[in-house]
Amino acid sequence: MEGLIYLDNAATTYPKPQIVYDFMHEFYQKHGVNPGRSGYDMCMATEEVIHATRTMLTRFFNGTDPDRLTFSYNASDSLNMIIQGMLEEGDHVITTNVEHNSVLRPLYHLKHDGIIDVTYLPFDDKGYIDPDDVKREIRQNTKMVVVNHGSNVIGTIQPIGDMGKICRDNGVYFAVDVSQTAGTIPIDMAEMNIDLLAFTGHKCLMGPTGIGGSYVRQDVPIKGTRFGGTGVRSAYPFHLEEFPYRMECGTLNIVGVAGLHAGQKWIAKEGMKNIHQREMKLWDRLRRALQETDGVTTYCADGPEGHIAVLSFNIEGWDAGNVGTMMDVDYNIACRTGLQCAPLVHEQLGTDELHGTVRISIGPFNTDEHIDTAIQAVKDIAARRRE
Ligand SMILES: Cc1ncc(COP(=O)(O)O)c(C=O)c1O
Repeated sequence: MEGLIYLDNAATTYPKPQIVYDFMHEFYQKHGVNPGRSGYDMCMATEEVIHATRTMLTRFFNGTDPDRLTFSYNASDSLNMIIQGMLEEGDHVITTNVEHNSVLRPLYHLKHDGIIDVTYLPFDDKGYIDPDDVKREIRQNTKMVVVNHGSNVIGTIQPIGDMGKICRDNGVYFAVDVSQTAGTIPIDMAEMNIDLLAFTGHKCLMGPTGIGGSYVRQDVPIKGTRFGGTGVRSAYPFHLEEFPYRMECGTLNIVGVAGLHAGQKWIAKEGMKNIHQREMKLWDRLRRALQETDGVTTYCADGPEGHIAVLSFNIEGWDAGNVGTMMDVDYNIACRTGLQCAPLVHEQLGTDELHGTVRISIGPFNTDEHIDTAIQAVKDIAARRRE
């Protein structure tokens, strides 16, 4: 799409750094064999890159054991494994209204089947969960708290460290969905008392789609929920208990892992802080302009502090979907409209009745010019309604 202004980076970052495309291509051509299955040189070399990537990501999240950094299809896949692997009949779970459906739906299925009970915490008018609410809602049978680190609708970063401390003090497992923050906001599992973490590869980690994963801390009693080939101890009838096999079955997406490998190198070179600051500068410029525009409402966007570069808004008199279509057709801008897979955020904001919001999400390759065009588009559309 020539001239496309891509502002849908919360859906997936695009483009990826050139090093990611190049390394994936080169790796698959040179090492495209099944890792961990045989002892020939090429197979060992492939396994080395997989292990090196586990190690890089373990360090990145400040875990301790690379075998506990396991790969999956994406965050949804890992969250399913975490939720189904941790929860048992009679358990209570605390989650929040900022969650994505990849948390809400696995919980809802278990709740609907009468297996677990779930408490949903609301966010305050700025978009943050109060850690004291977590504390207040802990019951005798609360097994786990599952929360989103950065919202894909309103962009707020939750006080994960405070919640983690409360969970640890109360003997409750703490699981965090870092889909929107991994690669742009520092995540320290040890300091934040995170027991289980789910990430996706294709957003700020700069990998391709189809790769994600989790890290499960030592002594967390997660059950494996899928079984199959591992390439080792083939005569044993059960799926292997040890990590990484407990969380992985079948042939890995090795090209995806290679993308994450190169993504880690790119993030280290650019500096996560620099990436975030650059994005937030653009975000703030957009936020200010939209907030000065008559008829535009932004949601939970007071300032860049405690935020990722995601901004949701509506224009009075326009359906969010129609705004998205006009931005696309008239200005060649790609953004996202609707409920963004997070229905409870919209229910709480009341935007479900407006068919959601328009969401602009900024990535590392956006420029001032992109943001200026988006601002002009919103101003024009807002003015058109009043003509
Ligand atoms: C907060 C959040 N959690 C989970 C997901 C699911 O990620 P994936 O589609 O890669 O599984 C997303 C994706 O948009 C997200 O924004």
